[in-house]
Amino acid sequence: MSLSKVAANASANRIIQSDDSKICVVMVGLPARGKSLIAGKGMFNPPPPFPILLRTIVDGYNIAMRYLAWVGIPAKVFNVGSYRRSNTPQPSATFFDHHNSEGERMRRAAAEGAMTDMIQWFAAGKGVVAILDATNSTKDRRKWIYEQCQANDIETLFVESICDDEDLIMTNILEVKTTSPDYKGQDPEMAALDFRERIRNYEMVYETIDDDEKKYTYVKLINVGSTVIINQIKDYLSSRLVYYIQNLHIKPRSIWLSRHGESEYNLTGRIGGDSNISERGEAYATALPELLYKSGVPPNTKIVIWTSTLRRTIQTARHLKEKTGFEKLEWKALDELDSGVCDGLTYEQIAEKFPEDFAARDEDKYNYRYRGGESYRDVVIRLEPIIMELERSENVIIVTHQAVLRCIYAYFMNVPQEKSPWMEVPLHTLIKLTPRAYGTEEQRFKADIPAVSTWRGKGTSAKHQEFPAEGQSAQH
Ligand code: ADP
Ligand code: F6P
Ligand code: PEP
Repeated sequence: MSLSKVAANASANRIIQSDDSKICVVMVGLPARGKSLIAGKGMFNPPPPFPILLRTIVDGYNIAMRYLAWVGIPAKVFNVGSYRRSNTPQPSATFFDHHNSEGERMRRAAAEGAMTDMIQWFAAGKGVVAILDATNSTKDRRKWIYEQCQANDIETLFVESICDDEDLIMTNILEVKTTSPDYKGQDPEMAALDFRERIRNYEMVYETIDDDEKKYTYVKLINVGSTVIINQIKDYLSSRLVYYIQNLHIKPRSIWLSRHGESEYNLTGRIGGDSNISERGEAYATALPELLYKSGVPPNTKIVIWTSTLRRTIQTARHLKEKTGFEKLEWKALDELDSGVCDGLTYEQIAEKFPEDFAARDEDKYNYRYRGGESYRDVVIRLEPIIMELERSENVIIVTHQAVLRCIYAYFMNVPQEKSPWMEVPLHTLIKLTPRAYGTEEQRFKADIPAVSTWRGKGTSAKHQEFPAEGQSAQH
């Protein structure tokens, strides 16, 4: 099934038929190999309301889940550790020793619990992708999963993460394991030692996916994707997932987001078009290089500048390019949401000329498609390659438009579809997003250059106003 078809199905709230794709992504790997980070904890943590200085999604370090939610594919993580915790909340390393028959029994029971719930979740008809997050470290365990899935018409995609970089593993343990519920309230140093011991117990029985398992669809990520082995990908959705997962990296980097400087259309409250930036927009363009450095750029950092193909973003990035000498790319996919027959009108004119459309957009802004134009959902689909490229890239500053920026921001900060089109993303403000092991950190830097507000609240006619509007505090 194509991504857009899955998304369209989800949008219409149609039940996905039993003959449609059902995929179980089976994570494989020793502990502390990034499996949960790649898969996702499945927690949903919408950010608090704007404006805010610094925001972090703390418990949502959920990369694949975030991607699937963003493209509108119903997905759920089944984390075997959480099932095990209901009986054995804080086991010591000996629990994971394969000679410990009681430990083995309980771990098997936890895996069966996750499997039963996953099968039921698919049977209920709403699921497309389940992620079975566990070590799944033996051939026997994988065979059992494969057979259970086959019996229930569920495709399997095994994703193995292999890593022999001892320093990285120790960093991972200290970064995420000592603070996990398994060690809550315990001394972090003792926790790290115990976790090391837990890994040793797993190593005794661990079997990497090998030639006996050639009939499985799998991807092996070796040392954070420096080598990737892909076997037998059969359907489109699996291939997108594999492409996505293989592009993930954990190098430190930031992504900066900025709208273009205030445009001539913004001044008159008109949407769309390809107007030039205003005088104040030009002042923002001039200030942008300094604002970027003020936001914190480590020495010798290379940043790539991405703009849309429209004048206002290219003009905004002009000084940035000249002052920094950074490489610049123009992307058609970053052009503003196409407002079709409403292009060039103000919201008030739209409300007058197309009252039904205006109301329909307010009713379901994410799915409303302008006549001859686009919806937010359409924009997300066209931004998918941009997200793929962003995941592969390191430092990038994106100068784009209100709707497009909302969609990109929603991906990184896990904002639900019904909220993202209503977010306030003021002009003349630089947003810095920095992925961390535990989530994405956000900082906002406002240039001290006034601009109109183009934000329109639900059910209002949107008289545009000076920014910052009353009651809104300036942020740095
Ligand atoms: P697991 O689920 O395998 O026990 P976690 O997902 O809890 O491990 O580990 C998260 C840590 O792993 C993070 O610090 C992250 O930077 C790191 N990490 C992410 N991807 C990988 C990878 N492919 N190989 C090794 N470590 C990774
Ligand atoms: O007003 C600026 C603008 O970028 C328009 O070009 C675009 O149509 C609009 O914002 C998108 O915002 P909304 O979806 O809230 O109308
Ligand atoms: C766990 O108990 O935390 C776990 C991941 O279990 P298993 O390795 O048995 O899948």
